[in-house]
Amino acid sequence: MSGTSRPKFYVTTPIYYVNDVPHIGHAYTTIIADVLARARKLADRDVFFLTGTDEHGQKVQRASAERGLKPRELADRVVVRFQDLWRDLSIEPDFFIRTTMPAHKRGVQKIFKKLKEQGDIYQGTYRGWYCVSDECYLSEDVPEEADRTKICPDCGKTAHLLSEKCYYFRLSAYRERLLDFYARRPDFVRPESRMNEVVSFVRGGLKDLVITRTTVSWGIPFPDDPDHTIYVWFDALHNYVTGVGFDENLELFRKYWPADIHLIGKDILRFHAVFWPAFLMAAGFDLPHCVFSHGWWMMGGAKMSKSRRNVFDVNLILKMFGPDPLRYFLIREIPIGQDGNYSDESFLHRVNSDLANDLGNLVQRTLTLIRKAFGGVLPDPDPETEADAKLRGEFGALKERVTALYEEVALTRALEDVWAYIFSVNKYLADEEPWKMIGDASRRGRLARVLTQAASAVRGISHLLFPVIPGSMRKVWAWLGEEKRPEDVLFRDLEFGGLVPGRNIQEPTPLFPRVALKDFLAAMTEPGAKETKEEAMEQVSYDEFKKMDLRVAHILKAERVPNTDKLLKLEVDIGTETRTLVAGVGDVYAPEDLAGKRLAVIVNLKPAVIRGVESKGMILAAEWQGKAKIAFYDGDVPAGSKIK
Ligand code: MSP
Repeated sequence: MSGTSRPKFYVTTPIYYVNDVPHIGHAYTTIIADVLARARKLADRDVFFLTGTDEHGQKVQRASAERGLKPRELADRVVVRFQDLWRDLSIEPDFFIRTTMPAHKRGVQKIFKKLKEQGDIYQGTYRGWYCVSDECYLSEDVPEEADRTKICPDCGKTAHLLSEKCYYFRLSAYRERLLDFYARRPDFVRPESRMNEVVSFVRGGLKDLVITRTTVSWGIPFPDDPDHTIYVWFDALHNYVTGVGFDENLELFRKYWPADIHLIGKDILRFHAVFWPAFLMAAGFDLPHCVFSHGWWMMGGAKMSKSRRNVFDVNLILKMFGPDPLRYFLIREIPIGQDGNYSDESFLHRVNSDLANDLGNLVQRTLTLIRKAFGGVLPDPDPETEADAKLRGEFGALKERVTALYEEVALTRALEDVWAYIFSVNKYLADEEPWKMIGDASRRGRLARVLTQAASAVRGISHLLFPVIPGSMRKVWAWLGEEKRPEDVLFRDLEFGGLVPGRNIQEPTPLFPRVALKDFLAAMTEPGAKETKEEAMEQVSYDEFKKMDLRVAHILKAERVPNTDKLLKLEVDIGTETRTLVAGVGDVYAPEDLAGKRLAVIVNLKPAVIRGVESKGMILAAEWQGKAKIAFYDGDVPAGSKIK
């Protein structure tokens, strides 16, 4: 690839919370970013692609406490799940940032110190509701006599009234500058309809922002006042500058900042299109070129999310199909910006029809014919006829259009155009009927021409599709006897005639497995398949199992943990003593149903403090359809009986 003056391209994804494992929604944003990064590299851009994890805040702190872990331990476990999934989906970021990295923390503290010193940050007291699930303050004003809880209008979960000392960021002072910025840069937010939403929000007036917490210890300490931690969102947004070198690799930072595209889901638009530019203005940084907001993947009419439990196991699809079919489906099915509905049927239709039938067959047919007719080595072809020239010409026009569509982030349309060309090539073969020419010496030159044209088209198509389905297209290039990989050739150097005669064409294997709908549906509806599994199961030895002290316990008393939806505090008799346990079963069992029951408890689990209550042990229960099902002992098994 060429010299040093290549224009840069810096693309980011949101950084994902580590309270739970990744799902299809996270995969969607990250696949789009990977496709853009690959396409820009082929357009000779110097690319930096950043993704990572958002590890601080109340949500992660709470999730770790519920599992009896330290927040950092939970983060360390979950981060591997993200990194593994990205690898399995052929996603190749240039850097994976974790907000617990010391360089990120130092960068954030430096920026906040500057903002405080220059008067953009001031001290105050906040009173209002906070939704932990969204890590978000509700915008409503609070009357004197307010309810302690309120339903969050965005996610429907319970928000709690907070009253705490805090620091504020003077957002209200940035209203005019923001409006002026939007007017100068109408492309700052895409799609356009989202830009209008942002402008009317800012026109409506901006309140100063709470930027610190005193009741959340799991966060970056606020400079010179460590009783406060920085509110998780304003820690997280700054990953886009610290992840690209601020302020410890300034050469890298100067090269890539500002970001060319921040890809985000529409749920987090305000943070990126209003608050983030205001922070950047205050800190004196250049502003990003574009915040591109995509729609939601839904299933059964609701946004897919782990907490709604309407996600399926991405790993199951990967096991059956490899990464490319899912990458293709997510990009092809809906234009970025619209919502899409996932169904097993629509996924499989794309695989069997678009990938296996249209593309897979074309590749298979062309390469197999070359092997059959010429032992895999194409001889010199006859000159081009009009039909041959048309196929070549159409490719030239296609390349121009598709590279422009990649540039405009119109990925679905790029794929539609490539598929229209695949139809043309399939039609060309149907018209020319090369299979009828095999063995006819007088038509050898013509046969060589038809197959050269088809193979050239396959080569070109594979290059244009490389950003979306890289693994399979690399295979096709290798079968065609190319010494280079598709990523080693720039779009502008790609020519239809690039297929050199005389090279050895390999025997292809099926590119995309065709799977019968009933087999796919059966696999996807197996128990557990619709839910992302919490942990990959590894085998344990009997000695390891023996370390667990499992006992029958009698429940003496049960009551709800205040302000929680599903936590119960249980007093249990374990034979030798009475223990307090906290169990997340309150959404299924009422406290009065549990008193007097006998059940299994692990009594030598490390104690954990959950919502202020020390839990010394854990009850055992099955998880079924997202709810706990406790196995009770009937009869009179004494408390303390060993379970083994
Ligand atoms: N940690 C914040 C983001 C901080 S960025 C400075 C956060 N994390 S998240 O784990 O909740 O991930 C949110 C992102 O995941 C969404 O913005 C979107 O990109 C993606 N998606 C999560 N569920 C989704 C769907 N059902 N459909 C499409 N994308 C969605 O918010």
